[in-house]
Amino acid sequence: MNFKLNIIVAVSENMGIGMNGDLPWRLRKEMAYFSRMTKRTKDSSKQNAVIMGRKTWESIPDKNRPLAGRINIVLSRQDLKLGLNTLACSSLETALQSLQEPPLAESIESAWVIGGSSVYKEAMASPHCSRIYLTKIFKTFECDTFLPEVPMNTFKLVKDPDVPEEMQEENGVLYGYQVYERLHDFNSLKL
Ligand SMILES: NC(=O)c1ccc[n+]([C@@H]2O[C@H](COP(=O)([O-])OP(=O)(O)OC[C@H]3O[C@@H](n4cnc5c(N)ncnc54)[C@H](OP(=O)(O)O)[C@@H]3O)[C@@H](O)[C@H]2O)c1
Repeated sequence: MNFKLNIIVAVSENMGIGMNGDLPWRLRKEMAYFSRMTKRTKDSSKQNAVIMGRKTWESIPDKNRPLAGRINIVLSRQDLKLGLNTLACSSLETALQSLQEPPLAESIESAWVIGGSSVYKEAMASPHCSRIYLTKIFKTFECDTFLPEVPMNTFKLVKDPDVPEEMQEENGVLYGYQVYERLHDFNSLKL
């Protein structure tokens, strides 16, 4: 692929990511981090894409969608009618394919999978997935949507100079940013 595929997710101690079609918490600085990481490009002439399930798309308030400065791709098996700068795709595979074809191929630097549950699961299992940017929230929240198990044996913890290493706190909630990178030679390891 001509671009990197990453995952970004915030998860509670009980592995929750969502409740009633919304985030279970309000963490403004964490949202700003999400925005900064998914927008950042090394090449200023390029943009990133964000790939999400239909329910995650619907969880974004009208005034904030499509997410600015990024190509928005929404996965659905229905025939969705979406606005400008937003693409509907019937599978993750189709979404990744469309990012490798004109007109997007030349202008995309990275693609970020931004949820929800089944899209994370599919992306984590994909050999194309380079990194998981995981915000670990040190609190239990009531949730109805959860992060599938991260295959830790195929990822290792790494540092990213743009990611703060120190513990964060907002509204009395402690959280920290972690970055996991796929072990590319995993299949060739003699275990
Ligand atoms: N904490 C976080 O970082 C985070 C991030 C994102 C979302 N969330 C939360 O998670 C919840 C939403 O996530 P969710 O897991 O319930 O739903 P979701 O993954 O956002 O959406 C599910 C829908 O996406 C479509 N879809 C998913 N995988 C597909 C595939 N491979 N091919 C085609 N279509 C596919 C289907 O749409 P159709 O039914 O239209 O076919 C499916 O019903 C909300 O509460 C949201 O706030 C949290």
